[in-house]
Amino acid sequence: MFDNLRDSYLSIDFSVIINNLNVIKEQCSKDKFLFGVIKGNGYGHGLVEMGYAITESNADGMAVATSDEAFALREYYDDIKILNLGVVREEDYTIMADKEITVTVANLYSALILSETKLDNKLYVHLKINTGMNRIGFNDIEDVKEALKVLSKNKKVVIEGIFTHFATAEDYDKEDYLDMQIDLFRKMVEDLNMPFKYIHCTNSASLLKCHEKLDFTTANRVGIAMYGHLQDKIQDSYPIEGALELISHVTQVSQYPKGTKIGYSNNYVTQSDDEYIATIPLGYADGIPRKLTGATVLAETSKGDLIVGKIIGSICMDQTMISFNEEIFFEDRIYIISNDRRINVKNRALLLESITHEVLTNFGPRLPRFYFDEYGEIMQISNDLSLLGLPIFMSEIIEKY
Ligand SMILES: Cc1ncc(COP(=O)(O)O)c(C=O)c1O
Repeated sequence: MFDNLRDSYLSIDFSVIINNLNVIKEQCSKDKFLFGVIKGNGYGHGLVEMGYAITESNADGMAVATSDEAFALREYYDDIKILNLGVVREEDYTIMADKEITVTVANLYSALILSETKLDNKLYVHLKINTGMNRIGFNDIEDVKEALKVLSKNKKVVIEGIFTHFATAEDYDKEDYLDMQIDLFRKMVEDLNMPFKYIHCTNSASLLKCHEKLDFTTANRVGIAMYGHLQDKIQDSYPIEGALELISHVTQVSQYPKGTKIGYSNNYVTQSDDEYIATIPLGYADGIPRKLTGATVLAETSKGDLIVGKIIGSICMDQTMISFNEEIFFEDRIYIISNDRRINVKNRALLLESITHEVLTNFGPRLPRFYFDEYGEIMQISNDLSLLGLPIFMSEIIEKY
């Protein structure tokens, strides 16, 4: 059995994620329940692995976006609260109840269906209120009251939570909108006057910025900040950092005469005879978009130097060329992403005119993830392509040949 046969991988420090969660719990959610948001394959860091980090930290629960994600986590974690933030299909309520997964009810239509659904086990429900994101959620308090009434008919349904989601928590020029959403949510919670156990509204930016004024809530959700990649400058006020590095190794080094055309569509032309053109086995199928051409990367050479290179030409599906002015060698280590400000996730997001959330969730499934503990020891290698990760019938076929 092989865990990994490739020298391009994501290196993830578990202890950093655990520390980030502990800092956020201690400083922003001390007496409140804290959900770590691990949807989108744990923001690219691995769903089940980030579930493990939550169980090892002082955070209290896990939040995901789909029933599949919730279901997969329940296979590994028996006792912890798992909240599905998305809308659940009619036919999935029963299994969610059986697996003790807490579901979201976001509109009267879903409430009516659930009230008529036969459940063998209790189903825990959080009501989602739309206060301005205008994506999912009850738009009207009268609909919420009607939903409470119809859901009370289903004796297996336990309504234990209410929440909303903010649209502009990271936009300093739209703080009025954030305040409006907070006020509206507070007013709706007060009007309903119900003993909800979980009242929550934060994402990372609003939690780190406004936790002190959210005196009416009892829980928090944190996503991007638990990975250390909140773009908002507020993150700098906390001892939080990124846990992830995207690493590859040089598979070929060449020097060509000045003017040589490199890669697809001849998109780069060498500037001098002295340029070192290094190739690495990592491409856009791994989550390095072609738009990153021109971006800085760092290399740790076998001589022990840290040198700077530049991605050139068209990034290929599986390979990328990098130009160096200093000597680089076969098998030298290349950092495409690390915590260094020249190549961090925020820098990549800015170059891609995107956000850190998208950079992280774009890492491809074939990229192995190596997990390290605080001593730098490998704890786990997760590779969707390793025999261990393949469905049994596939492993059997491979063993035969
Ligand atoms: C409903 C909900 N809550 C919380 C989060 C976490 O947001 P962030 O990653 O900005 O903390 C998200 C993320 O998209 C979300 O959709």
